[in-house]
Amino acid sequence: MARVFHATAGSSRTTARRRSASVGRAGIVAGYLAPHPPHLVYAENPPQNEPRSTGGWEVLRWGYEELRRRLAAHAPDVLVVHAPHWITMVGHHVNCVPNPRGISVEPIFPHLFRYHYDFATDVDLAEAIVAEAADAGLVASAMRDPGVRVDYATIGALHLANPAWDIPVVSLSANNNPYFYSDAALDEMETLGAATARAIERTGRRAVLLASNSLSHLHWDREPDLPEDMGVERPFDHHQYAGDMELLQVVREGPTERLRAAIPKHIAATQAETKAGSLTWLLAAMGWPAVAGDVLAYGTVIATGNAVVEWAP
Ligand SMILES: [Fe+2]
Repeated sequence: MARVFHATAGSSRTTARRRSASVGRAGIVAGYLAPHPPHLVYAENPPQNEPRSTGGWEVLRWGYEELRRRLAAHAPDVLVVHAPHWITMVGHHVNCVPNPRGISVEPIFPHLFRYHYDFATDVDLAEAIVAEAADAGLVASAMRDPGVRVDYATIGALHLANPAWDIPVVSLSANNNPYFYSDAALDEMETLGAATARAIERTGRRAVLLASNSLSHLHWDREPDLPEDMGVERPFDHHQYAGDMELLQVVREGPTERLRAAIPKHIAATQAETKAGSLTWLLAAMGWPAVAGDVLAYGTVIATGNAVVEWAP
């Protein structure tokens, strides 16, 4: 039988005040590029996920272990995540359900990812982001239907960053069309990022942001008999790999301002999943900080490029 993981909901405001008072300043204290391949969760065998594996993709998972250590040191009140597979064709939606619960299933890999989730939303901050986004001229909406199943990109990034689920969450949708092969929606992500930052300031939260995006995004259409067979895991081709390395070189050198030009170029070269806007949202919310990013790991998953990166201004 499936085991359901339970996190206590409802006291996020009290928790927020206590942590901010004891740890330090409010505001955005760090941002992470936190990709969500379901394979990474499958490989870890957490109790929340039904399928069992023998491991795999260890280097990326070691990067996430380092992210978890750093996240604990940042001691945020809230994790704010933008993910590409909660697709809303009209407007930017924010999950305002106080206690989302259910099973998140990856539609292409249901044999790898059937994850039982149960977490607390920071509803005050979620509503503040909706209000700030609307004030900035964006079409924005508070999603209040508890029956909406949380997508695997949101759950995947949140699990990989914080498998204990002991930090309240705000989850934002991706307002775009998955069939775009361009950076058409990135301008709006600048506005959404700034609105997110204002809402965090206004509510006095100490926040960590997660951008749930892979990098290069061409992938295999055949799976080995053993999904975690690392003997067949490699980049799609040299062009895809080189595109990722060119972007990560800019990330590692900094400052983030250079990524304003590098991200669209990388999308055009590699069909990168950052076209959904999560990474641009994150860096805009942080005000395009004049720092280098810290690449904690890079690896491929069914040939797609994935990097775990920290920006801590
Ligand atoms: Fe994805």
